[in-house]
Amino acid sequence: AHQWQGVITEYADRLPIEPGDPVVTLGEGGTPLVAAPVLSERVGAQVHVKVEGANPTGSFKDRGMTMAMSKVAATDTEMVVCASTGNTSASAAAYAVRAGLRCAVVLPAGKIAAGKLAQAIVHGAELVAVDGNFDDCLTIVRSLAEDYPVALVNSVNPFRLQGQKTAAFEVVDALGDAPDIHVLPVGNAGNISAYWMGYREYATDAPGLPARATRTPQMWGVQAEGAAPFVKGAPVEHPETVATAIRIGNPASWTLAEAARDESGGWIDAVSDAQILDAQALLAREVGVFVEPASAASVAGLLQAAERGLVPAGATIVCTVTGNGLKDTATALGNADIDPEVVAPQAAATAAALGLA
Ligand code: F0G
Repeated sequence: AHQWQGVITEYADRLPIEPGDPVVTLGEGGTPLVAAPVLSERVGAQVHVKVEGANPTGSFKDRGMTMAMSKVAATDTEMVVCASTGNTSASAAAYAVRAGLRCAVVLPAGKIAAGKLAQAIVHGAELVAVDGNFDDCLTIVRSLAEDYPVALVNSVNPFRLQGQKTAAFEVVDALGDAPDIHVLPVGNAGNISAYWMGYREYATDAPGLPARATRTPQMWGVQAEGAAPFVKGAPVEHPETVATAIRIGNPASWTLAEAARDESGGWIDAVSDAQILDAQALLAREVGVFVEPASAASVAGLLQAAERGLVPAGATIVCTVTGNGLKDTATALGNADIDPEVVAPQAAATAAALGLA
């Protein structure tokens, strides 16, 4: 049986990896593309979800981190640094362990989901909480990377997007061609840019690398209403949303994401926190996939587009669900009653509690 080797080995011919580079990997990528009949019926199309929460640290960041960390490991630099809303730091912390590097993470104080914070801590990263938002943290780490011998592994590191583009390759490899539409949440805007790069490369003949797709999809990006700089057309000074992963007001990959939107004939729109939480519950209860709130934004955006009559009948649509729901159980449970009835240790009492007897 084939054991998936991680994105660098699987897509070596399409990544800027040199023969001497170490490969720092946790076996990332190769994630499930799951058909979602309930969503298909709702929007009148063929909908699949790309379950990126199945990556080693529970988010799509691992695809980029294997590339970025391998490149740092090929140098003399001994420490990596990142700003993060939680998933980048979780991924950087784990991959730094594999690379034997120190890892510093700079986080917006009080705005990181508990599971993500736990990941950075258990992997031994050095944490600094900043009294500010993600945008402030990114400014800080950019400055650190200029002034100190530390390597920046945020998505402004071009190797991150190189790794992340492999998700588009996997979608084409699974479907046999590009979908009509690809929907994903937009925060710092690296991922939508990476997918677009991947789709374009896979649809283009290159020396020794024949095209694998006959076309490219429309890229649909979805932001949270309170953190929607692309919709506003300008940075948002005080971004706010329940989806803390995309609580970003001044995305680093602004130009690339606009190019992805415009060259693909797509759009970037916003959904409310209530729509995000509804989509998260729908994915959990009717699709069987537990994702974190930011991830549900893609599905919320698709449902909203369908209500507005923007979904072409029968189209093939992929929604990337970017991170695992276990990272943020507090938000998912909300006000749910989580204390099950306690019964005597007997089948009869259990059956009664279940209404079976
Ligand atoms: N979904 C999740 C779960 C994320 O963690 C992020 C970004 C996004 C979507 C948005 O992706 O930034 O490429 O547009 N998280 C970053 C972090 C900012 O620090 O973990 P993007």
